[in-house]
Amino acid sequence: MNIILLGPPGSGKGTQAGILVSDLGMVQLSTGDMLREARSSGTELGERVAAIMDAGELVTDEIINSLIREKLSEGQKSGYIFDGYPRTLVQADALDTLLEELDIGLDMVLELTVDVDLLVARIVGRLSCGRCGSVFHRETKPPAVEDTCDNCEGELQQRKDDNELSLRTRLMEYYQKTAPLTGYYYRSGQLKFVSSGGTIPEVAAKVKAALPATG
Ligand code: AP5
Repeated sequence: MNIILLGPPGSGKGTQAGILVSDLGMVQLSTGDMLREARSSGTELGERVAAIMDAGELVTDEIINSLIREKLSEGQKSGYIFDGYPRTLVQADALDTLLEELDIGLDMVLELTVDVDLLVARIVGRLSCGRCGSVFHRETKPPAVEDTCDNCEGELQQRKDDNELSLRTRLMEYYQKTAPLTGYYYRSGQLKFVSSGGTIPEVAAKVKAALPATG
């Protein structure tokens, strides 16, 4: 099974993808994580995208499509969760072409819907581990020890783009460039909506119930 997770910043794509990885053994392809990894390892790509990400704007389709092409060309045919990709119609077209070329199927597009006020609260309270990338929240998913990652004891930090100004840009980018994908995938008959209101386990249960039977 291969699925796309759509949804605005803070809707819980990364959180739910992480649960599917640990419960179902799927592979999370998060373009945001790939770009953050490039930044922390100081690659030329990381340097090129840093200012764009911090401002909350989208990185070029060309860069993003080539990151995904590289990952999908590793040979695995199933078990992918696309998290934060595609994000524009150009990326959606490129993904269709790539999946066909590599003979990889797409089973479902799952859009997480959530109230904008809740998005802001989730983004403002988010804490991310600088070492392993695990994600926590000051109120809804606090770490056992303050500012310390439960998984690797790394230091928890606020993402540079998790501030009010960048978030406003990210939301504008989402509604202008990513929201049209709802129509794109609705037309293909692959789209399902899951409300991302409720606790993390409650949303996880709804996500699992929406997945296609794999038997
Ligand atoms: P990316 O990292 O993809 O950021 P995003 O889409 O803005 O999504 P987020 O990571 O902010 O939110 P999420 O939905 O994963 O929420 P999370 O699960 O963490 O992209 C970052 C940047 O990279 C972009 O701005 C762009 O510059 C670039 N980029 C990436 N992909 C690109 C692409 N394809 N094209 C162009 N540019 C690209 O949850 C948020 C918080 O809420 C956490 O603290 C979590 O613990 C908490 N939480 C989650 N669910 C719940 C719940 N049900 N109840 C209570 N709390 C919850």
